[in-house]
Amino acid sequence: MTLNGKKSPGLIADWETLQRIFIRPEDEACRQTLVKYMEQILFGLHDFLNSNVGVTEPISLKELTREFRDTLISPNPEKKLESVISDIIDQIAPRAVNVASPYFVGHMTSAIPFFMVHLKAIVAALNQNVIKLETSKVLSVLEKQVLAKIHRLIFNKSEGFYQTHVQSVDTSLGAFTTGGTTANITAMWLARNRFFDAISKEQGVEEHGMVAAMQARGLERAVILVSKRGHFSLKKAGGLLGIGNSNVLPMDVDSGHRVDVKKLETTIRELKAHGRTGIIALVGIAGTTETGTVDPLDDLADLCQEHDIHFHVDAAWGGPVLLSERYAHRLKGIERADSVTMDGHKQFYMPMTCGMVYFRDPKAMDLVAYHSNYVNRQGSVDLGIKSLEGSREANALILDSSLKIMGSRGYALMIDHGIETAKLFAAEIERRDGFQIITQPELNILTYRVVPPSLAARLKTADLGSREAINDVLDQLNTHVQRTQREAGNSFVSRTRLNLGPLDKKGVVVLRSVIMNPMTTIKILNEILDEQEGIAADFKQAGDVSI
Ligand SMILES: Cc1ncc(COP(=O)(O)O)c(C=O)c1O
Repeated sequence: MTLNGKKSPGLIADWETLQRIFIRPEDEACRQTLVKYMEQILFGLHDFLNSNVGVTEPISLKELTREFRDTLISPNPEKKLESVISDIIDQIAPRAVNVASPYFVGHMTSAIPFFMVHLKAIVAALNQNVIKLETSKVLSVLEKQVLAKIHRLIFNKSEGFYQTHVQSVDTSLGAFTTGGTTANITAMWLARNRFFDAISKEQGVEEHGMVAAMQARGLERAVILVSKRGHFSLKKAGGLLGIGNSNVLPMDVDSGHRVDVKKLETTIRELKAHGRTGIIALVGIAGTTETGTVDPLDDLADLCQEHDIHFHVDAAWGGPVLLSERYAHRLKGIERADSVTMDGHKQFYMPMTCGMVYFRDPKAMDLVAYHSNYVNRQGSVDLGIKSLEGSREANALILDSSLKIMGSRGYALMIDHGIETAKLFAAEIERRDGFQIITQPELNILTYRVVPPSLAARLKTADLGSREAINDVLDQLNTHVQRTQREAGNSFVSRTRLNLGPLDKKGVVVLRSVIMNPMTTIKILNEILDEQEGIAADFKQAGDVSI
């Protein structure tokens, strides 16, 4: 079945039509449709986004899946472009998630400035492939320039340094990736090669694999250290790189959800004393996914320096905070990292998808260089030589244009708004009976939970057993509140599970808010809390602890 159940009559696949669609729209009606919808998409997003403050049309996943069951590809065309576009606008868009809504404060995906859609359209129209100069030319040169700009933002080397490396064929300051996941994997890939190559280049791990490299170094195990708040992409890196995801060791955090440096130091000493375990990298997080907290990066840099460990900072979320004069200091120590991950599609407000990875040492990426005869030849400037990805779109054009349009001050306004609105939100949560703040916003993410006053009073005096029973009920209540609010479709916060302190092994369900949409105001956040209060009030009884 097609989207609206109707097929256009008499459409056939023929060579003449096929040739026409490579140079112009099918016919005048089609052209008009394209222009109409491009106008709508480019200048107002479209009516749906403007008229719906809520986050999604109330249609269940079950109902949706019923409509998407046809698995046959039609031999002949089913529809003209004009009606395909109409279908998307009328039937797909309203059922997608309106992540641009200021009431959508649950994930790291949000509204983007309207001009991003223009820039994305230009990138698609040019269709450059920055894997190689032959399919991108100026876009590759521009990418190197943008990489140098962000490298400078992080590492702040001298003008001379950037003049040497910005367009150097021999060095790389970083790479664009598809996202934070591939950026983290790239950094761990390089850290692994760096660790093993320092001992035995002849039995290099990239060429001979982990078994040979481990044997050459007399090791039984290689590990990556990161706080237990680390993003799961690091586990993927462990799996992919032959380190093993169970060897991505989750380090304890303090009560502020930052890695516990004392315990970390003890772990490093113990691992080193063992003698047969290699530490590939230590990862600090600048803006954890769940709580937005920043690890003590300077302390981690000290540890890495003392023990000669690769220091990676996962700043997928928090990196752009460096653009804010008011809050950049919260990332102090990032400039001492060996490598840094950043996401374009998070706080650089770019459309999906764009990530980046940066290296302090411009020669570092030599450890992951690949050549072939038809592309990425030795000595060429082809960006695909040092890149996990193969073909890639010219995302640097979007970031570069956006930096020009907004300047660092424009970005800083959005960053500051997010952090300051999150602070106001936290104060409001603390002011209200019936809510408990779990983590304060260091950046613009905070967590809290609904705790009815009667249970809050009981929690204060309860022994361990009763506390667990009350927390179980609160878990059910908060899960119910989050689900009900999501399904009602007016607003959205996400939920996760967090430990209340180092002694709480089980953790509790918490609601998580990410404040990055500049249109999200404290008034809107109050409405979200009001709705949650209402849902909680209807949830009368759960388990054997009444509320
Ligand atoms: C801290 C952190 N690192 C890495 C990632 C992975 O990024 P992506 O989803 O772009 O692959 C995320 C995503 O939320 C993140 O929060």
